[in-house]
Amino acid sequence: MAILIDEKKRVLVQGITGREGRARTRLMREYGTNIIAGVTPGKGGQSVLGVPVFNTPREAVESLGKIDVSVVFVPAAGVKEAAISAIEAGIKLAVLVPDRVPVWDAMEIAAAAKAHHATFLGPNTLGALSPGKAVVGMIGGRAESARQWFKPGVPKGVGVISRSGGMASSTGYYLGQVGVRISTIVHIGGDAVIGIRLPDAALMFEADPLTEAIVIFGEIGSSQEEELAQLIAGGKITKSVIAYIGGKAAREGTRFSHAGAIIEGGRGTHAGKVKALREAGATVVDGFGDLPGAVVEILTKMKGESLMSEAEQKAVWHSAITRIEPNKVAVRGYDIADLMGRVSFGAAVYLILTGELPSTALARLMDAILVSSIDHGATPPSALAARTVASTGATLSASVAAGIMSINRHHGGAIEDCARQLKAIADRAARESISLEEAAMRTLAEMREAGERMSGFGHRLHTKDPRTARLFELAREAGVDGAHMQAARAVEKAFANAKKSLPINVDGAIGAILADLGMTPAAFNGIFMIARTPGLIAHVIEEQRRERPMRRIDPVNHGYDGPPSRTISKSDLL
Ligand SMILES: CC(C)(COP(=O)(O)OP(=O)(O)OC[C@H]1O[C@@H](n2cnc3c(N)ncnc32)[C@H](O)[C@@H]1OP(=O)(O)O)[C@@H](O)C(=O)NCCC(=O)NCCS
Repeated sequence: MAILIDEKKRVLVQGITGREGRARTRLMREYGTNIIAGVTPGKGGQSVLGVPVFNTPREAVESLGKIDVSVVFVPAAGVKEAAISAIEAGIKLAVLVPDRVPVWDAMEIAAAAKAHHATFLGPNTLGALSPGKAVVGMIGGRAESARQWFKPGVPKGVGVISRSGGMASSTGYYLGQVGVRISTIVHIGGDAVIGIRLPDAALMFEADPLTEAIVIFGEIGSSQEEELAQLIAGGKITKSVIAYIGGKAAREGTRFSHAGAIIEGGRGTHAGKVKALREAGATVVDGFGDLPGAVVEILTKMKGESLMSEAEQKAVWHSAITRIEPNKVAVRGYDIADLMGRVSFGAAVYLILTGELPSTALARLMDAILVSSIDHGATPPSALAARTVASTGATLSASVAAGIMSINRHHGGAIEDCARQLKAIADRAARESISLEEAAMRTLAEMREAGERMSGFGHRLHTKDPRTARLFELAREAGVDGAHMQAARAVEKAFANAKKSLPINVDGAIGAILADLGMTPAAFNGIFMIARTPGLIAHVIEEQRRERPMRRIDPVNHGYDGPPSRTISKSDLL
């Protein structure tokens, strides 16, 4: 368990069509958040990254059933209306990310939440993150970083409550560095009026069976730390509390960047908070740098054993790909025995390169990409290079390596170049507010002028590459049709208008599809290498078995004497 958010909670994103809403939806989903719907008034019926958009939270609930959490990425002036409409639709937790929400609006949201037995986090919050489960809001940034920084609470972890956004992530990061596992990190927000306050979050962690201690990044101003001290003293919080309070050097009237962090009339001082917490029995460290060590000391005492394995303690560098322990192998966190026989090779390739398992449709697409490039006869440079080296008596590994070494910009490498060129065309269309067709035409004209070639179009043999149409068909089935694929069609059209028959080829199709999947172009040639390796091995073995050493290999003139054309029978299918 965790508090506020986990991978099962059904999440709505309000403002999903906006810049931040769209970007965060992708990041939250990559981390594991179950985002089922989005809301932007007037944009109902659209979809963002495959998530259906509704006009109001009520419509979303009526169409999809219960929604647990709504995260709001709506500019400050619209937050009151957005939050109240979510609360009135029966959503019990609203996470209000925007800053500069008027205090009066926050008070009205609080009244609506109270009337509907709901709660809200923020405003001006980075949200909450339960390591290894889900994130709601902005904590941790990229999923891969968040995965590396915050150690999941398996089986238990500490709960982190922060009044500062930046320090919420930093606290989680430094705790992870010393092997401390975390159940949930909560940034409560620094505004004067907020929903879930520090004592409320502490009570949630107290009730959470998988939280073993509570770590606080507090600060001057308000009475939240003093209220927490009262809860500890009164026996309402029994778990160990380890705290750091920022703002020691602040004088009366000093205001941090947070509206709520101000000392007034002698209340909310650093000394007062430290004294109250210490007297109640909490551990309060003097410097932020002492916090991780203090947490380790308390947890070690509680458990009677060291938090980090010997191997973890000795580690001087880290890799986030595969974890190896005696009798255990986990790829990107998944037990290899669990993956075997259950996910296809394409899905495993996607997993190891992106860190996440693909959906079933994406796995099919990935498999199709790998199958499409498995071999292309004996004439491509990689096959010729592999055969030539094999004919010298070289080993299989040396011969295949020679083939792989010939995969470069003009062979296989068109995938990466094409993806980058398509992105430039899509970016240009957006930047210059012109259609993709116009952007493609202008770019091609400039390239012609500069004597450059568009990668991924035309083929020395095929006029209609059989692999391309099938890949686009599978991409459509998987719901993939983003800016790169659209730009590819625009380029094809621009060539056709110029009376040039240069249809998109398999490299171009793969580049466009992989880029629309959000994969990094740096890996694209690698995907071609993965796909082509079985073909190269077959060529090397055939060369070694059938041909004499040091033969003169004709690069073009050779025949085919394998099985005649045949179709796949049912028993051949998986
Ligand atoms: C909330 C915030 C992220 C939005 O920024 P943005 O994404 O750049 O804003 P945009 O205008 O692109 O998008 C807002 C979207 O909300 C939509 N929207 C407006 N009112 C809405 C409502 N009641 N319900 C749902 N959506 C609504 C808008 O229509 C817009 O979508 P559109 O572009 O498709 O029309 C930004 O205003 C903000 O507050 N940033 C700071 C957040 C922060 O740092 N917080 C934590 C600090 S520790």
